[in-house]
Amino acid sequence: METKVIVNKDSFLEAYLQDRRKIVEEALHWYLPAENNTPPEIYKAVHYSVFAGGKRIRPILCLAAVEATGGDLASATPVACALELIHTYSLIHDDLPAMDNDDFRRGKPTNHKIFGENIAILAGDALLTEAFVLLSRTEKIKFSAEKRLAVIQEIAQAAGIAGMIGGQTMDVLAEKSKPDADVLYEIHRRKTGALITAAVKSGAIISGARENKLQALTTYGLNVGLAFQIADDILNVEGDRELMGKGTGSDAALGKVTYPSLMGMDQAKEKLRQHIDTAIDSLSIFDKRALPLRLIAGYVMERKG
Ligand code: IPE
Ligand code: IPE
Ligand code: MG
Ligand code: MG
Repeated sequence: METKVIVNKDSFLEAYLQDRRKIVEEALHWYLPAENNTPPEIYKAVHYSVFAGGKRIRPILCLAAVEATGGDLASATPVACALELIHTYSLIHDDLPAMDNDDFRRGKPTNHKIFGENIAILAGDALLTEAFVLLSRTEKIKFSAEKRLAVIQEIAQAAGIAGMIGGQTMDVLAEKSKPDADVLYEIHRRKTGALITAAVKSGAIISGARENKLQALTTYGLNVGLAFQIADDILNVEGDRELMGKGTGSDAALGKVTYPSLMGMDQAKEKLRQHIDTAIDSLSIFDKRALPLRLIAGYVMERKG
């Protein structure tokens, strides 16, 4: 998409997000395992959650990082899709009765409400596994084996114990304790920050970005990721259930520790703004091709859904 003439930043961003969502949406249809040879229940359960209307922010961030570093969008699309498969798996499992026990996600009943817990668990397992099948397939990933391995390692670490699984573990255990701000930071960094950082870094790796740009984008990804989770927690208190497509008020009901519960709403909003400022500042070494990344940071702060 042409980024030279910007009449109105909001409408530019809206069109940009829509365009990138369309690329991701079409590619997801293409990259998910075919219907034949797939047990119908798992095929339906996987498709139900993947095509339930997520914002696609992780794949879009990956593509925007490729763009900012002058890389090829088409070759990054399967990586962007793999990130969305992993994210969707994490939501299916996060909503299970043994986890957050939520009934509503992406504007629809949660996966286990429709398919049962057994199939929902397997649908999550399937999405995580198929993401790595996709990332490892040479006919689908068109860049060098060295870059491919670096991307796989980045994403695997972000999804694993050092990242999302570690964060989710700390998150469920924290319901019974009262963690301080340092522990809360670590929960957010792992459960949400890690995969978002990996999305941005993967884009930079695919483009072959130099160390200074990789470092800057790591700072950007982490701060956008932390901001994303703080915004999510704020919206859980004062957001609109329809716009969010998921239940609100659930953090308080479960006794989740969040920035609003730990330090109050005003300070939580201030924290959110600080992370967004840091994210945008980290892009100072980039040219106008980083405009989408700059605007997405603003969107993360102001989003309502
Ligand atoms: C929700 O993520 C879970 C968090 C990490 C806060 P998103 O807000 O990106 O969810 P979708 O993909 O748009 O449904
Ligand atoms: C979700 O965190 C994080 C992951 C799925 C890794 P939350 O539990 O806070 O997100 P929502 O509110 O259910 O989307
Ligand atoms: Mg959770
Ligand atoms: Mg949850």
